[in-house]
Amino acid sequence: LDYTEPYRPQYHFSPRKNWMNDPSGLLYHNGIYHLFFQYNPASNEWGNMSWGHATSKDLTHWDEQPIALRARGYPQNVTEMYFTGSAVVDVNNTSGFGRDGKIPLVAMYTSYYPPAQKLPSGKQVRTEQQSQSIAYSLDDGVTWTTYDVGNPVIQSPPAPYGNQYKNFRDPYVFWHDKSHKWVVITALAEIHKLLIFTSDDLKDWSLASEFGPYNAVGGVWECPNIFPLALDGNQSALKWVLVLGLNPGGPPGTVGSGTQYFVGEFNGTTFTADPDSLFAKNTTSNWMDWGPDFYAAAAYQGLSIDKHVQVGWMNNWQYGQKIPTSPWRSAMAIPRRLSLKTIGQKATLLQQPQEDWGSIMSRNGVSRSWKSIPEGTVNLGTPGETFEVQLNFSDRNAAASKPAEFAIAVRATNSTTQQTRIGYDFAQKRIFVDRTKSGNVTFDSTFASVYHAPFTPSAGGNVSLHIFVDRSSVEVFGGQGEATLTAQIFPGKNAINARLQSTGGTTENVSLKMASISSVWT
Ligand code: FRU
Repeated sequence: LDYTEPYRPQYHFSPRKNWMNDPSGLLYHNGIYHLFFQYNPASNEWGNMSWGHATSKDLTHWDEQPIALRARGYPQNVTEMYFTGSAVVDVNNTSGFGRDGKIPLVAMYTSYYPPAQKLPSGKQVRTEQQSQSIAYSLDDGVTWTTYDVGNPVIQSPPAPYGNQYKNFRDPYVFWHDKSHKWVVITALAEIHKLLIFTSDDLKDWSLASEFGPYNAVGGVWECPNIFPLALDGNQSALKWVLVLGLNPGGPPGTVGSGTQYFVGEFNGTTFTADPDSLFAKNTTSNWMDWGPDFYAAAAYQGLSIDKHVQVGWMNNWQYGQKIPTSPWRSAMAIPRRLSLKTIGQKATLLQQPQEDWGSIMSRNGVSRSWKSIPEGTVNLGTPGETFEVQLNFSDRNAAASKPAEFAIAVRATNSTTQQTRIGYDFAQKRIFVDRTKSGNVTFDSTFASVYHAPFTPSAGGNVSLHIFVDRSSVEVFGGQGEATLTAQIFPGKNAINARLQSTGGTTENVSLKMASISSVWT
């Protein structure tokens, strides 16, 4: 394994080579976390979409596996691509795919058919049609068999949406215990609607309900997934969270893709968003991440309700195929553990990094505190390319001059010609990531920007930033994880310095912990 190339993420998953996008089938089964993903076997741009595969025991160390589903007809004449979907364990063998006591894993995905064709099932599909299909595995996810005698299992969107057959995708299938049925949620991308279907056997599906359009509709709706979470840790007060991709039309200040969520109720057929989860303006939303590089997030299945993990694609369709990495393109964000908490009377998604840090985090990191830091900078030496920062400071201020901003500059060169600034804007009460001078920013005209997440300090006036720096990314978890920002950066090899910066005044009660993170690829 050679994960030493410039910009190669050291503790994020990236494929050895070639293009990757959405996580497609996140499944925990028999002690193994499976990560399937949109993958091009041929190059590091989008195409020939197949399902790549990686496995992990701890969500931290990954083993890349053989391709799970290779585009049909690849490489000469691709007649079917395997777009984003999901995977379940069919414990009761409702599908009948199980044999000799082997429990089938079933994947549901979008079949994208470049040319019109008559399929082995006898079904006729049109040019560029998108339909929902299934495949199964009897060897715990290593090899997969497509259900050719029946696919696609949901061929076209129902009336009156029949004309949306080119934009009907991303099935997220799960078992709904109360109604004892399989449920799948899919997107009619162009018209901002989600369709929910139910089934007894994963093969025959009936339309149950639709959802949308609501909240942000600036681009296509993609990659929906819904799952229950206990509100305020109360297992008898389950809410349902719907996570949804939007491209373009992400959070304010970003260009390209973004991820929104709704909190509500799901009764087995219909998802109803809570009134306080909906906004009148169709550009506003509950943003899951306020940075530019968190998309197509999906939920792990097979975990207990109190351990809910999502993985997002750490890239953006705006410039994803132009990022200066080779021979691969794209990494996954740190897996995030999700919970739901009432904040300001509203059920709010909290996110915490979920890697098995014990094995890769140095124990003898830096720990410092300051009663106050006057306007200016504090040099923090050279923490390098891969490290964690825990930064706390007060939003209040007894000194005469309240600062405009307090920030940590990471991945900075000696001369500060390169730096990525992560901090807090006191007047506007928002966390920011400024990557305008982060290194190579020229491959896309929108890349050099500043991103903001609204943030309310704790009742005691504390601002808490938990930051993860890797060779080509920063991820910020603000407060209890109610505000996150994820951004790629492409700094030079000598951008290994860090400093604190108090701008326009004195920042009080500052505490800092830094620990280096070692590579998971060695
Ligand atoms: C989202 C997406 C999905 C689609 C997949 C194709 O990133 O556009 O809607 O299934 O990528 O690779």
